[in-house]
Amino acid sequence: MRTLGHRPAYRGDMPNVDTRPDDDAWVPMPEALAWQRDVVLAAGSPVAAQILQAVLDDAAQGGGLAGDLTMTVRFGSFPGLRVMAAVHRLALERQAARVAMCLPTLGGTAPVTPRDRAQFRSDVVSALSADLQVLRASLAHTPQTNDPGRAALLRCALSRLDPAMPVRLREIGASAGLNLRADALPGRTDLEAGPLPMIVDRLGCDLSPVDPATSEGRTLLSSYVWVDDVERFRRLGEALRVAERIPAPVVEMDAVDFCSRIASEEGVVKVLWHSAMWAYLPESTRAGIRREVKRIGSTATATAPFVHVAWEWDTDLPGPVPFGLVVTRWDGSDSDGQPRLLATGGSHGNDIRLM
Ligand SMILES: C[S@@+](CC[C@H](N)C(=O)[O-])C[C@H]1O[C@@H](n2cnc3c(N)ncnc32)[C@H](O)[C@@H]1O
Repeated sequence: MRTLGHRPAYRGDMPNVDTRPDDDAWVPMPEALAWQRDVVLAAGSPVAAQILQAVLDDAAQGGGLAGDLTMTVRFGSFPGLRVMAAVHRLALERQAARVAMCLPTLGGTAPVTPRDRAQFRSDVVSALSADLQVLRASLAHTPQTNDPGRAALLRCALSRLDPAMPVRLREIGASAGLNLRADALPGRTDLEAGPLPMIVDRLGCDLSPVDPATSEGRTLLSSYVWVDDVERFRRLGEALRVAERIPAPVVEMDAVDFCSRIASEEGVVKVLWHSAMWAYLPESTRAGIRREVKRIGSTATATAPFVHVAWEWDTDLPGPVPFGLVVTRWDGSDSDGQPRLLATGGSHGNDIRLM
């Protein structure tokens, strides 16, 4: 395991990682959509890339979508994910039959020939144009990509704790809280150092929590799966079934408020976990979370430890894909508060490499 300190600049093989604007940069929407198109294409999602190409072409030609897709946006709000979700939702809700026939997640056949692709792009624009409210609602909503593939990372960190000490698990930006059930979700034995400690309670927060027991919640979560990613779609279905039997409440609250209520506690390990949510936060919220994490850590002891586990994008990390699993522990020892990089990999828990 490496201690974070001076880190080499990331030089990966994704086409446009080096040109990724800062999360807080304001960029023309088409620029952000084109960036996302290149990312999904490089990640092996050609149909998702066609969806983004369809709306880019329409906006460039001043078509019916142009009015909703040409303004300036905060880069870290990821409008591309929002557009992809709008199209997936229309297909899931049977409002876009021709589009659905081409989506692998829905059992469709991906368009391959130039003619089929052109037809698909035209169908995507027609479906979005038929009810612009779906696109507008999706653009206004922070992506709720609650990916249970990330549970493998949390399990990796939990497996390095004392298995005899129970854990109280807390998550910020939890969405539907699926990963709060990490102990019941599939992990990867090659990433785990030993048995997991028992999780004695689980609690998350989100600005906009999703209820995984409702059909609206399930549709919303499903819509954020990239349309080529059949495996992720299957994984989500499995996690929704786990959520039916293991309760894990997610309260509607800002991450800083939530953290301000966390304290170290005698006889248990407090674990604060978050994944794929940092990019959405303004700097003031990030600073607030850092402050609260230090505060909790400052009261931790050997019998009341605190562990912060993060799986977040970090362009300074080495390796082919720039997400890092960073674990920071406080237990009253000399190494308190030193972040350690445990693994790197892709956002959705793919291509993981242990350090
Ligand atoms: C891309 S989702 C990731 C969900 C989950 N962490 C995962 O990895 O599967 C980002 C989540 O962060 C939440 N979020 C964004 N800003 C937040 C804030 N200030 N406080 C709490 N949650 C926030 C969003 O509502 C959204 O559910």
